[in-house]
Amino acid sequence: MMIKIEAYIREEKMDDVLDALAKINVHGITCYQVMGCGAQHGIKKYVRGHRNLPVNMLPKIKIEVILGSEQWEEKVMQIIREHAFTGHHGDGKIFSSEIRSAMRIRTGETGENAVFSHSSLNPVPEE
Ligand SMILES: Nc1ncnc2c1ncn2[C@@H]1O[C@H](COP(=O)(O)OP(=O)(O)OP(=O)(O)O)[C@@H](O)[C@H]1O
Ligand SMILES: [Mg+2]
Repeated sequence: MMIKIEAYIREEKMDDVLDALAKINVHGITCYQVMGCGAQHGIKKYVRGHRNLPVNMLPKIKIEVILGSEQWEEKVMQIIREHAFTGHHGDGKIFSSEIRSAMRIRTGETGENAVFSHSSLNPVPEE
C-alpha cells in the first residue's frame, strides 16, 4: 500500500527535516510554503488599522512525501518529528494516509514502480 505523509512544520526546521529525509534515501518530496493554525488558532496579532482582524494564520512549511510501501511509514514520521521538534506549541503535525494510485508521467509506470526510483531503493533504513 502506498502512503502519503503530510507534515506541517516550522519554517526554520525545513532544512533539517529535508536533510534527514535525504539521509534515509527519501527522494520524492514536495515542499510548500503555507499559512496555518493549530489548536491555539494561531497567535492573535492585530494589523494596524484593522482592529477587528486577527492575523491568526502563521507561515509554516508543508512537506509531502509519497512512500511506495507502508513499511517506511513509522520511520519517516519519527524522523520528521525528531528533526522538527522544539518542544514548544506550534511544532506542527504529521498526517499519513493511503494513496490509491500513482503514475510516472514519463514512462506510464503505475503503482509502486511509479514511486520507487530505479537508481536506489527508496527509502533505506538508517542504522
Ligand atoms: N488539524 C489540522 N489540519 C490541518 N493542518 C493542521 C492541523 N493542525 C495543525 N495543522 C498545521 O500545523 C501547523 C502547526 O500546528 P500546531 O503545531 O500549532 O498544532 P497544535 O494542535 O496547536 O499543537 P501545539 O499545541 O503543539 O501547538 C498549523 O499552522 C497548521 O498549518
Ligand atoms: Mg499550536
